Amino acid sequence: MATTPINDAAPVPVPPQQPSSTNKDNASTEASQPEQQPSQLTPTTTTTFTHALPAPFNTPSSSSTPAPTLITQGAEALLYRTTFLTASTPAALKFRPSKPYRHATLDARLTKQRVLAEARVLVKLASLRNDPTNEVNVPAVLALEWDVARKVKGGGGLGQRGGGGGGGKEGQVNGARGGAWLLMEWIEGASVKDLLRGFDGWVAGLKGRVEKTDGGDAVEDDAVVKRRKIQQQQEHEEENIKALLRRIGRAVGALHSQGGVIHGDLTTSNIMIRPLSSSSPSSSPPSTSSSSLPPDLTGAIYLIDFGLATQSMQDEDRAVDLYVLERAFGSTHPRQEDWFDAEVLQSTDGYRGSFKGAGVVLKRLEEVRLRGRKRSMVG
Ligand SMILES: Nc1ncnc2c1ncn2[C@@H]1O[C@H](COP(=O)(O)OP(=O)(O)OP(=O)(O)O)[C@@H](O)[C@H]1O
Ligand SMILES: [Mg+2]
Repeated sequence: MATTPINDAAPVPVPPQQPSSTNKDNASTEASQPEQQPSQLTPTTTTTFTHALPAPFNTPSSSSTPAPTLITQGAEALLYRTTFLTASTPAALKFRPSKPYRHATLDARLTKQRVLAEARVLVKLASLRNDPTNEVNVPAVLALEWDVARKVKGGGGLGQRGGGGGGGKEGQVNGARGGAWLLMEWIEGASVKDLLRGFDGWVAGLKGRVEKTDGGDAVEDDAVVKRRKIQQQQEHEEENIKALLRRIGRAVGALHSQGGVIHGDLTTSNIMIRPLSSSSPSSSPPSTSSSSLPPDLTGAIYLIDFGLATQSMQDEDRAVDLYVLERAFGSTHPRQEDWFDAEVLQSTDGYRGSFKGAGVVLKRLEEVRLRGRKRSMVG
C-alpha cells in the first residue's frame, strides 16, 4: 500500500489490524463522552479554512499541489478534498483537531482511538475486496497520523507510534494544536441523504407540473393523459428508490456478516453512492437536487465514517446498529419512512436475505425498539 500523503511528504505506515476485541473497548470508553454527536454535519461547500491544517497539508498551494478544500465540518472532524501523490488523484482528508476544552491526555487518547478504529476497520473491510461475494465497499486508506502534536515535542518521526499524552498543550504545528488525520480514497458521489432529498425535490417539481396541467389544456383528455404519465414516472422512480433501500439493507448485512463490523453511526449521510461511470477522478458527482431530473441512483454503495465502529458478531450489537439507522432514517426522510422496514430490513433482497442469521437480528431489533420506546417515555 502506498503511504505518502501528498507529493513531498514523508511516508506514514498504516498500522496493522489489531485483534477483534480492541475496538470494542474503545467504543465503551467513547460512549461515555458527553460531547459525542454523531453525524450532525451541516454540508457546505467552501474553500475557507476554519482550522489550521497540520503538516504536510499546510504547505502553500501551488499549481502542482493545490490547497485542500474544506467540504464539511462535523462535530468531530473536518473533511477536506485534497490530492494524493499526483495532482489528478483526489483524496479525502479527515482531520480531527484536538479539542481545547477537553483534558489534553484524554483528548489525545480519544482522538487516537477514533482515527485508529476508523483506519483499522477500513483496512479490514478493504481486504474483503478480493472475495467475489463481497458487497461492502469502503474508501481505501492511504495514510494516517494520530498524533499531530508529537512532531513538535521531538518525539520522533511520522512512522513512530504515538505516545499516550500526545495532544499536549505545548504542541502547535504551524497553527494546528494537535489532533489526528486520516487520508482516504476520494469517493466521487453523493450521500444517500442528498439523493433522497433530491428525490423529494424532484417529486415536488412533478406535483407542480400536475397542477399546471389542471385547466391548462383545452381538451380535458390531454390533461388526464399528462397526469397519468407523470404519475407513472413518479411510481417508476419510487420503485428505484425502494430498490436502492434494499441494496442498502444488503450492504449493511454484508458489513455485519462478511465484515464482522458494527458501524456505530449508520445514517444516510454515511452511505454514499458512487456512480458507475465515476472511476475517472475528474467525473462529476450524480445530480441530487435538480427538480427536472430524478436523482441518479445507479452506482456502487460505499459506507463511510467508521470513527465509532467496533468489531462484533453479537446479535444485540447488530440490532442496535440497525436501530440507529432506522431512527436516523425516520427523522431525516419522513416521506420515505414507511418504506424503511419493508425494503431495508424485511425484504429478502435487503437485510433479511443478506445472511443466515439476519432473522435472529431482526427479532432482536424488536426488543431494542421496545427498550428505545420505554426509554423515551421515561424521558
Ligand atoms: N472518502 C470520501 N470521499 C468523498 N467524500 C467523503 C469521503 N469521506 C467523507 N466524505 C464526505 O464528508 C462528509 C463527512 O465525512 P464523515 O462522515 O467521515 O465525517 P464526520 O461525520 O464529521 O465524522 P465523525 O462523525 O466521525 O465526526 C461525508 O458525509 C461525505 O459527504
Ligand atoms: Mg458522517
